[in-house]
Amino acid sequence: MCGIVGYIGEKQATNILIDGLSKLEYRGYDSAGVAIINNNKLNVRKFKGRLSVLEEDLRQNEIQGNIGIGHTRWATHGEPSDVNSHPHTNCTNDIAVIHNGIIENYMKIKKWLEEVSDVTFKSETDTEVIAHLIDYFYEGDLVDAVYKAVEKMEGAYAIGVVCKKEPDKIVAVRKDSPLIVGIGKGENFLASDIPALLKYTREVYLIENDEFVVLTKEDIKIFNEFRQEVKRDVFKVTWDVESAEKDGYEHFMIKEINEQPKGTKETLQRRLDDNGDIYLDGIKITKEDLENINKVYIVACGTAYHAGLVGRSIIEKYARISVEVDIASEFRYRNPIIDEHTLFIAVSQSGETLDTLAALREAKKHGARILSLVNVVGSSVARESHDVFYTWAGPEIAVASTKAFTTQLMAFNMIALHMGLTKGTLTKERYTNLIGRLKELPNKIQTLLDQYELIQEVADKQFNNEKVFFMGRGIDVEIAKEGSLKLKEISYINSFAIAAGELKHGTIALIEDETFVIALATQDRLYEKMLSNIKEVKARGAHVLAIAKENNEEIEKIADKVIYIPETEDELTAILSVIPLQLLSYYIAVARGCDVDKPRNLAKSVTVE
Ligand code: M6R
Repeated sequence: MCGIVGYIGEKQATNILIDGLSKLEYRGYDSAGVAIINNNKLNVRKFKGRLSVLEEDLRQNEIQGNIGIGHTRWATHGEPSDVNSHPHTNCTNDIAVIHNGIIENYMKIKKWLEEVSDVTFKSETDTEVIAHLIDYFYEGDLVDAVYKAVEKMEGAYAIGVVCKKEPDKIVAVRKDSPLIVGIGKGENFLASDIPALLKYTREVYLIENDEFVVLTKEDIKIFNEFRQEVKRDVFKVTWDVESAEKDGYEHFMIKEINEQPKGTKETLQRRLDDNGDIYLDGIKITKEDLENINKVYIVACGTAYHAGLVGRSIIEKYARISVEVDIASEFRYRNPIIDEHTLFIAVSQSGETLDTLAALREAKKHGARILSLVNVVGSSVARESHDVFYTWAGPEIAVASTKAFTTQLMAFNMIALHMGLTKGTLTKERYTNLIGRLKELPNKIQTLLDQYELIQEVADKQFNNEKVFFMGRGIDVEIAKEGSLKLKEISYINSFAIAAGELKHGTIALIEDETFVIALATQDRLYEKMLSNIKEVKARGAHVLAIAKENNEEIEKIADKVIYIPETEDELTAILSVIPLQLLSYYIAVARGCDVDKPRNLAKSVTVE
């Protein structure tokens, strides 16, 4: 969840660290700090609050030095405070450590250190024990001390370490938390994610689990857990700095919402061959493999989980395979039935969500075939899967996931169509027809985006309403869930989603005058039933915004306001109906003065359990 940056070279380290951290603030933003070595001194500055607090301090009291590490934090152990911020140091202020992840046995290590040395702990963090542990093992060789310290640690971590007695190197190690190294000329970089380094280099090494890295000005060496040097291919980043910048938009979220026509188009078009058939480049599942599969699990978290819920309907419909969808943090603890006939589909924008990764490993251990839908190339989920479908949405920076979601839906459609045709549950004619309908979607998304003012009007009227319900039937329920999550995470409104048919079993008791209800009624075969549900909440005083397919005007007589989505197959509406909901959340959050891209208590990449 936290952001890590390191620099060693000829330039002033603070500038590069602050710039890199500003690109990583989405990983955590409750405090920030740096440690710089200069003239045999280790200078540490760290503050509670946004990166700007640290920046301001450094502006007033510059720190010189060409080697340093920096961190933005998302608190796990210990509240956000100056003292709990990273970097953490040993008692004599020689060694500084930054850390992303959780040291699960830190209490045990703490106790042990207190017994074997006269250490004093300053913070409540798990990270501080790492600094003292390295210090305990330090006998003039930082790499050796880090190796010995890591042997004692359990949990997930990416760690960067500097030591003032060895001012020519940064030592880093990774286990279950992302870590990359940027390759420069006469300088090298460390980071938890590519955007931090894009301004300086496009050539990176992706560090694997249990690997150690030693960076000097001129060299990068990667070692495995047995201290043997390993060779790694250079990974060339193909996307540009602009796509990780705001590009004139007020927030990343609205920029990313507007990138959805492009994202969904690329996801589809790049995988259509000369005959217009789907060609799944990273997926090697054959007809025999498919016939061998009798169960599909789709496992993910948050928005990616909602994409999985839609994916279930599409795969069951086109490929006629039974699908179960589960929340990753629940899946692994419920002893699911998995064997070599199971296809496990992991969905993750970042590819680093620890719950999803852990569920994937559990499924793999029991013989399942692992297919992942991932946005970040080379991420852990992608690397640990047998087959990968990259969604190519481009970097998603806003905490609220938008373009990753619609590209995941596009991916599910393509996978389901491919499976259906391969298995013979879908005729070639229907398959071709559906690909044609998929091709229409990017323009239809654009049509909806062009009507943003309609949504803005609703947002301006409803932004103070503290009670919001989303309801729908069929695929619309899954989009209701996604709409509700989007609204609550960025506007802090207490909203929730319900299958409209369930209303009368309890929830309708909460509907009263001016309760804001968003009713999705895009499914042709369930349309009449939704009209009845809308009447039920209207009769209790609700204010209803309906989302319906065009040419269904009678809904206007019942709802207070209707947003129409362009006509498409029932199975494909999800990609369209979510757009007004994303816009609505965005404009409501803006009207409420919320920090849209960095909502409170959240982080973009959730690399802790
Ligand atoms: O990177 P992932 O797709 O694995 O992330 C999963 C969730 O943490 C993520 O979708 C989260 O729910 C978003 N903030 C929702 O907008």
